[in-house]
Amino acid sequence: MTAPSGRAGVLSTARGEAGGKLILLGEHAVVHGQPAIAAGISAGTRIEVSPAPGGRRTVGGADPVDPRLVRAIAIAAEGLGLPEGQGFDLAIEGDLPDAVGLGSSASLSVALTRALAGAAGTRLPSGKVADIAHAIEGAFHGTPSGVDVTAVLHGDLGWYEVGPPRRWESIVPSRPLELVVVVADARHDTGRTVGSLRERAATSPGLYRPLFDAIGSLVRESRSAIERGDAARLGEAMTLDHGLLRTLGVSTPALDAAVTEAMALGALGAKLTGGGGGGAIVALAPGEGRTLAALLDRPDRPAFAVRLPSA
Ligand code: MEV
Repeated sequence: MTAPSGRAGVLSTARGEAGGKLILLGEHAVVHGQPAIAAGISAGTRIEVSPAPGGRRTVGGADPVDPRLVRAIAIAAEGLGLPEGQGFDLAIEGDLPDAVGLGSSASLSVALTRALAGAAGTRLPSGKVADIAHAIEGAFHGTPSGVDVTAVLHGDLGWYEVGPPRRWESIVPSRPLELVVVVADARHDTGRTVGSLRERAATSPGLYRPLFDAIGSLVRESRSAIERGDAARLGEAMTLDHGLLRTLGVSTPALDAAVTEAMALGALGAKLTGGGGGGAIVALAPGEGRTLAALLDRPDRPAFAVRLPSA
């Protein structure tokens, strides 16, 4: 990563924000070269950077304890060309549940890049913001496909391929997509689920490649279903995708139970979303998403509606 030119070294107070993301289909297989369909969501992260004396880089006035966050901050500062002695404090807040598959680390990566660039008075071209945010995301997830950061940066519904080069094509649904997210299980570690699957796939490619290919076929079918407004077909593909993700060993009993319950309540399809191993599911509602969300919502298992608009 080459540092951008700018007034790095003289920070002012600045804010940066970014939304989260929702993977509709294709997670995990996307790491192995298949396409995925994802969308940006408005729930996200807001960061305020304030200059601090000395070289200390704190979060809420204290040294960050998560080594991944320490590394993420170092990558961001280096990507922006800040001198090592340049200290600052970050006030981080947001409305995105952490580590449940809704892009909290990608959101933080983009918000941090934007906030620090603003504080340094550096106007970054969008490609440079993406480069820095992808590098920060790597501190959290090892070797991610880049779908999370790309969906957060674009914010709309799109088709993603890992490349290189990474590719995002906006998808315009012919009818709005009425979705429900259910945070059904404990927080997860995407880096761990991706790493474990990567190891198994590398050891037995003949066993895993056909499953990734099958997910890729579902993603292709789903794109045309979205574009022609065939919600029943999209829902069916989502539920089949969940079955494949379960076969790949990245689901949990709580995620499976939430999928079963959503289907029993009339969802057209449901699946885990994101890294799995815990986290959230996404269901396609037969009517208004908030009606299904109200049926699924429980104090220990929050549900909320997400509407992706048509043209
Ligand atoms: C995580 O949101 C999506 C995964 O496919 C990992 C990645 O693409 O980097 C599980």
